[in-house]
Amino acid sequence: MLKSNWKIRNKSVMFDAFATEYDFAATLQSKNDFFTKNLSTRKGAALDIGCGSGILAFELAKYYDRVVAVDLSAKLLAIASQKRSAPNIEYIQMDASQLAIDRQFDLIVSAATFHHLPNLPAALPAIKNLLNRQGKIVFLDNVSEVETPATIGYIVGAARDFVPDCSKYGFRNASRLLKFRLSPSWLKHLASDRYLSERQFKNIYGRCFPGCYFVKLGCFMGVIWEYL
Ligand SMILES: C[S@@+](CC[C@H](N)C(=O)[O-])C[C@H]1O[C@@H](n2cnc3c(N)ncnc32)[C@H](O)[C@@H]1O
Repeated sequence: MLKSNWKIRNKSVMFDAFATEYDFAATLQSKNDFFTKNLSTRKGAALDIGCGSGILAFELAKYYDRVVAVDLSAKLLAIASQKRSAPNIEYIQMDASQLAIDRQFDLIVSAATFHHLPNLPAALPAIKNLLNRQGKIVFLDNVSEVETPATIGYIVGAARDFVPDCSKYGFRNASRLLKFRLSPSWLKHLASDRYLSERQFKNIYGRCFPGCYFVKLGCFMGVIWEYL
């Protein structure tokens, strides 16, 4: 118990260490269409777990009456509140493994966050309990056949993407993105990540959300389930 709490706090500190540059990279590369194409029928309340700097929460606030967005990182939440506040968004610092929310939601989303949870099979049922009847969960997370990909792969990938990124985002932005992707703090973070394989991902989510369906999107796997 104490050990996993320590691990979680340590992850949060990691995101705090590069929050501004993470927000820059996430803003530049943001793509919310997997989520916006899979919204729930009812659009009362939405929950974003691991909201980072609020990019997806801010988008969901255009569709939902209320959005609750939780994250561990105080610095990312500060950026979210400063750059992406809206009257119908509430940002809360909270551990996704110990959600203390006494409301239910029509949509629960999460992007690139659940691989940080030390015990995902235990966390998912608690998350599922927060869903309204007819509600929907839409999650996206990294998958990899290697639990922790080698750092050299990230370095090569960042260098390989630089020229295409220059044409997509311009030289200045692409250079800043490259600098972030090669920064020791980001590479150290990536070296501490533990990803599920596709098979493990399907087993864990399939057990908690029977009948869910999966979508492979590059190095991510999406999972969608409706509470009928
Ligand atoms: C890779 S970032 C993704 C952020 C955002 N969803 C996005 O797509 O840009 C992972 C996020 O998970 C958050 N996080 C890590 N462990 C968490 C936990 N136990 N509870 C809540 N948030 C957590 C981090 O602070 C970080 O914002």
